[in-house]
Amino acid sequence: MIDYSKVLSSTVSEMKPSGIRKFFDLLQGRDDVVGLTVGQPDFVTPWHIREAGIDSLKDGKTYYTSNAGLEELRVEIANYLERRFSLKYDGASEVIVTVGGSEAIDLAVRACVEPGDEVIIPTPCFVCYEPCVRLAGGTPVILETKAKNNFKVDPEELRALITPKTKMLVLAYPNNPTGAIMTKEELEEIAEVIRDTNIVVLSDEIYSELTYGRKHTSFASIEGMHERTIVASGFSKSYAMTGWRMGYIAAPKILAKQMLKLHQYVIMCAPTTSQFAALEAVKNGDSDIEMMKEEYDRRRKYLLKRFAKMGIECFEPEGAFYAFPNIGKFGLSSEEFCERLLNEYKCAIVPGNAFGETGEGFARISYAYSIKHIDQALDRIEEFVKTI
Ligand SMILES: Cc1ncc(COP(=O)(O)O)c(C=O)c1O
Repeated sequence: MIDYSKVLSSTVSEMKPSGIRKFFDLLQGRDDVVGLTVGQPDFVTPWHIREAGIDSLKDGKTYYTSNAGLEELRVEIANYLERRFSLKYDGASEVIVTVGGSEAIDLAVRACVEPGDEVIIPTPCFVCYEPCVRLAGGTPVILETKAKNNFKVDPEELRALITPKTKMLVLAYPNNPTGAIMTKEELEEIAEVIRDTNIVVLSDEIYSELTYGRKHTSFASIEGMHERTIVASGFSKSYAMTGWRMGYIAAPKILAKQMLKLHQYVIMCAPTTSQFAALEAVKNGDSDIEMMKEEYDRRRKYLLKRFAKMGIECFEPEGAFYAFPNIGKFGLSSEEFCERLLNEYKCAIVPGNAFGETGEGFARISYAYSIKHIDQALDRIEEFVKTI
């Protein structure tokens, strides 16, 4: 009999499945549960975008595109980045269309990180950075952001973690799971810390369109940072296009060229139908973003009001579509809190420690759901916390 322990990569075998997944698995087949767990828009992709995908199929556009993606799409992504975030990229050579922001992150890490390299990852954060770094043989170095700093990266704490082995810094604002953002001034302080180093920044800006009150500042737009920033972004969150799997990298030519080789060998090209839909989104989707953002903002305000009423402390999220309330005062671990809420009150939220140990004492609540749904879930949370 084959000995699978000899077959499998030890790096992969030792990798823990995502803590978000673990919670989703508990929900399988439970129709009685009201969940606020999912990090995806509850909107359907706007019709004109879907239609562009359908039309491309009707027209028989079922071929591979160039490895980097349709040139027209790359040029439009570059136009969009300039229009929305004052970034300057050459669509022909500095943009790669990827399979979601997920692939963009993986490309950035694998193109830069070698065994022995350290990558500074501020947590709580989205779940994929650490495993991607480990797969590349790198060492994740955790920078714990704190509620008292509104979950932003503190420049002095960053400075203290930098060693001669530091290769990359991950910045992921607006943030999943906290909803924190970093302002231009705060990003400038980060830039000062790394300006004289060779540290490259992976800036995951997938929630860049979803900010409430303050416009997103891209790290690549901070003076002198363009040359060392790889922007990873995508269509999933801003255009409600999760299932189309469309993302992109924008980076200086010399970096993009190397990432393109990885993409070429592993993916060939992102799905063609999705690329045609994305082209329509990026050209004509600004008003869709506005409409969805207004609705998220309404839900965000509602959620905060209800938490205040319940006496649950909740940091005010300024971006993405998550709230990260502090549940520490109830004396249960995040997992215990969420499991009891699920089992006793049939309401699902994600334990904060699924996003790193710093998330302990918190829970992530997605407000990418209708107000009616949110209301129902919050009623259950309210009932539950009365009992503990
Ligand atoms: C911070 C962050 N980055 C990247 C992604 C990946 O998104 P996708 O691969 O759908 O573009 C997600 C998805 O939840 C996310 O929250």
